[in-house]
Amino acid sequence: MPKMKAAICTGYGPPDVLTIAERDRPVPRDDEVLIKVYAASVTNSDLFIRSSDVPLRVRIPLRLMMGITRPRKEILGEVLSGEIVQIGSGIRRFRVGDRVYGLTGFSLGAYAEYKCMKETDSKQGCLAVKPANVGFEAATSAAYGGLLALQQLERGDIQPGDKVLVYGASGTSGTVAVQYAKHLGAEVTGVCSARHAEFVKSLGADTTLDYTNAECVAMLESYDFVLDAVGKYRTSELKEACRRQMAQPGERRGMYVSIDDGALRLESERLDRMRDLVEAGIVTPITDKVYPLEQIVEAHRYVELGHKRGNVAIAVNAITVDEVTRPSTSRPASGPP
Ligand SMILES: NC(=O)c1ccc[n+]([C@@H]2O[C@H](COP(=O)([O-])OP(=O)(O)OC[C@H]3O[C@@H](n4cnc5c(N)ncnc54)[C@H](OP(=O)(O)O)[C@@H]3O)[C@@H](O)[C@H]2O)c1
Repeated sequence: MPKMKAAICTGYGPPDVLTIAERDRPVPRDDEVLIKVYAASVTNSDLFIRSSDVPLRVRIPLRLMMGITRPRKEILGEVLSGEIVQIGSGIRRFRVGDRVYGLTGFSLGAYAEYKCMKETDSKQGCLAVKPANVGFEAATSAAYGGLLALQQLERGDIQPGDKVLVYGASGTSGTVAVQYAKHLGAEVTGVCSARHAEFVKSLGADTTLDYTNAECVAMLESYDFVLDAVGKYRTSELKEACRRQMAQPGERRGMYVSIDDGALRLESERLDRMRDLVEAGIVTPITDKVYPLEQIVEAHRYVELGHKRGNVAIAVNAITVDEVTRPSTSRPASGPP
């Protein structure tokens, strides 16, 4: 049986519970493709599963679902980008040689050199041809940030001239949200710390507000749409003020949406749209740092600090020059972004 390298989770706890091990390389079933993984992401969801550091009332059901003493799925990682190297007999959408990106859903498993996935969307993930103009690492940022941000922004029916506030504008989903809202013609306010202000403006934000500066509360205006892109567990005086303000009845269309509202929909159609946006230069996926798989512990420690700029990627298989320049073999037709 051919082997592969993987980062496995040996128990619930700090980043040190992750270790590198050898495992059997998976073999695709008839309805699966085998992906040689070039890049994975370290997401907050990975941290959530690994640490199991949640209130007791959440921890019990979580552990019943994920595994009592350690995650049943020992290879974590829910975002990947790589190349299809083998396909099952029933595969129609993909061919060997396609460069893909996607989310692995409940099946996890992206922290490994190879991963089998179905070509159809399900709770086990969604997959699409990756944007051709960015590398595998940036593609993981586009997959995760794109699915999260587009799903929530679409709820706002944003029109040209709308005032949109993105809270947490410097994270993986926030950086996509700022760029996409700007593309839709909105006047965008990005909320971030002072050290990220210039960066968030470079993504297209018209104004930035510093969530660590209480004086910025008085600078809040009326917004047509507010996206909380950091999630319900991270807050500030400014976020609470913004939420209260949006809850008041008034002349504005105000809608307040959290990135945590509802489950993330694993839809390859949205990955296709994200690919179009990236290839058209409308959205640039942001990568903060790239760690080799062997440094998975350091990568988790860094993301746990809570201040990454965009995405943190893991380089899994080494990429050769040929693999970077060779075009993908098949390409689904898609419309304009
Ligand atoms: N609905 C779902 O099914 C689903 C699925 C997956 C994830 N999620 C949610 O999506 C969230 C967003 O993940 P992400 O990876 O896009 O975010 P992220 O990249 O982890 O966000 C990091 C950024 O947040 C900023 N930040 C930290 N604390 C903040 C605060 N109190 N106020 C404002 N900004 C703050 C940091 O900026 P500074 O360094 O400047 O502080 C940093 O740039 C996750 O945390 C999770 O809650 C939801």
